[in-house]
Parts: sequence; structure tokens; C-alpha cells
Amino acid sequence: MFKEELMQLNLLALPHCVTQDDEYLGYRIPKGSTIVANIWKIAHDPDLYPDPFSFSPERFLNSDSAQNQLDPKKFVFGFGRRTCPGAQFAELSIFLNVASILSAFTISKAVDTHGKEISPELDFTTAITSLHCNTSSN
Ligand code: HEM
Repeated sequence: MFKEELMQLNLLALPHCVTQDDEYLGYRIPKGSTIVANIWKIAHDPDLYPDPFSFSPERFLNSDSAQNQLDPKKFVFGFGRRTCPGAQFAELSIFLNVASILSAFTISKAVDTHGKEISPELDFTTAITSLHCNTSSN
């Protein structure tokens, strides 16, 4: 679940400064350029993740781990020598929060006046951060 949710984050890495002239796929990257890695694009690359927009934790649950799709923990916290120092803290906090909530609450979709389940629409908007949230407690 944690890995699958990491996939759905709308994420860019922090900006990094190039310390020497470089080249990538034929593109010249002069020293001093600012580079921002597009982590979201990696997490939604159909060559790595067939059907990347579907919620599918099974992609990480094969008993033969070689059959699993790439573990998103390998890139969502950044890459290279300067990665996120809060990665383990984040993973453990999320695990404890989800386990606590599931032990105390029953989570289900809201129903309309006819008792029919209401499925929230999922979509993204273009912004640094954005949140669409509809909750109700009965
Ligand atoms: C799911 C949760 C989190 C995600 C996906 C995440 C992701 C990232 C990413 C992509 C970077 C940039 C790495 C790079 O420059 O290549 C970063 C940096 C950083 N993160 Fe996180 N992070 C998370 C939680 C946390 C938490 C809980 C903390 C602190 C308690 C934290 C502290 C930091 C700090 C201080 C940096 C800057 C490190 C540096 O530039 O030296 N992060 N994080």
C-alpha cells in the first residue's frame, strides 16, 4: 500500500545545481544549470509500470520478487548522494498512522439518499500543491 501511494504522489525532486558541464541524451547541460528531476514522470512511465494510473498494490506483491515492478522507494526520495533524510521516518510514520486509523475506524464510501455508494472523482490540477477533499462522518 505504501509503495502504491508513493506512486500516486505528484512529485518533483528539489532543485540541484550542475557543478560541471554535462550532456544527457544529446542535450548540453552547462555548469551552473538548475536541474529538477521529474519523479512523477518516472512513477508514471508505462515501460516501468504497465497501467500506471490504476491503483494496483498487487504490482509489488509477487512471491517471486523478481516479478515485481520497480520499488518506488528507489526514486521517490531522490537519488544520488543527496537523498531525503526523512525517508525511514516518513515510511514508519505513515505505517503507524494507517494502522492506527484502520484499527479504530471503518472506512467506506459515502452513500446518497437512495443508499447508493458515491465514488469520488480523482483528478489532478496544475499547481505546486493542490488538494480536493470531500469527507463526511456519519
Ligand atoms: C513520503 C514522504 C516524503 C517524500 C516523498 C520525500 C521526498 C523528498 C525528495 C524527493 C527530496 C529531494 C531529494 C533530492 O534532492 O534529490 C527530499 C529532501 C528532503 N527531505 Fe524528504 N520526503 C518525505 C518526507 C520527509 C520527512 C518526514 C522529512 C523530515 C522529517 C524530510 C526531510 C527532507 C529534507 C531535510 C530534505 C533536504 C535534504 C537535502 O537537500 O540535503 N522528508 N525529500
